[in-house]
Amino acid sequence: MTCAIDVNNVYFRYDEFEMDNIQMELHQAEHKALVGLNGSGKTTLFKLMLGLLEPEEGEIYVFDRKMTPENLWEVRKDIGFLFQNPDDQLFAPTVWEDIAFGPRNLGLSEADVEQRVREALDFVRMSDFTNRPVNQMSHGQAKRVALAGILAMKPRILFLDEPFTGLDFPMVRSIFDIIQKLRDDGISVLFTTHNRFFIENWADSVVVLKEGKVIFDGPTHEALTNTEVLAQIGDWDSLKRDMNRGRIYDDSA
Ligand SMILES: Nc1ncnc2c1ncn2[C@@H]1O[C@H](COP(=O)(O)OP(=O)(O)O)[C@@H](O)[C@H]1O
Ligand SMILES: [Mg+2]
Repeated sequence: MTCAIDVNNVYFRYDEFEMDNIQMELHQAEHKALVGLNGSGKTTLFKLMLGLLEPEEGEIYVFDRKMTPENLWEVRKDIGFLFQNPDDQLFAPTVWEDIAFGPRNLGLSEADVEQRVREALDFVRMSDFTNRPVNQMSHGQAKRVALAGILAMKPRILFLDEPFTGLDFPMVRSIFDIIQKLRDDGISVLFTTHNRFFIENWADSVVVLKEGKVIFDGPTHEALTNTEVLAQIGDWDSLKRDMNRGRIYDDSA
């Protein structure tokens, strides 16, 4: 199987936090969940794979090319990153300008840029918003425009940081449909979530971080029978049981 991303024995540290012996494979066309409690290192791992942070040890391969400071810009063209908050991503005056920014940076002709923008907006069903200022959209609309901006670059790999947080149900559906359509194009997806539903119903495989270490990387059905993994995912049913027993309101009991 072709490896889209191969993280090999990576070590990285901030002052108070270290990521040690990080191993992870994301295959071509695979949709993989990146799971871990707050502070376990998910965003740090994204930054390492985007070349925003440099490992102290180990290597990261993107489609068999080792990422180095020299080829970073070339390699990064393959990867699109959807921030958790679309406000961190949209900055041009209008939707059109925002989506055109990336393709223009690729050096495409203005006709090609136009086609990319149209296709991307159509794909996320936001064509009616072409001339809208980016700061006059709902969270869900902004999220779809941010996604269009990424898709206009035609990445082969997509990183999604909690893509459904703060969205209502129809918008979750809409974004989910859009992402599923990407399967036909063989795009690899790595997404973070704290919600077991999306792991169970979307992910082909799961990688689990705990305190800066990978404690699991494998198929979803194995992840969901592994008690160590389940402890990191959490379980709403146990919360529900505790609430129904009233235990949740009285910690001292
Ligand atoms: N720029 C930074 N400088 C120092 N420590 C950081 C920095 N960014 C994150 N950390 C620390 O690294 C750990 C992992 O953070 P992060 O990767 O954001 O976790 P997650 O995304 O899983 O919540 C946390 O303990 C956090 O405080
Ligand atoms: Mg994070």
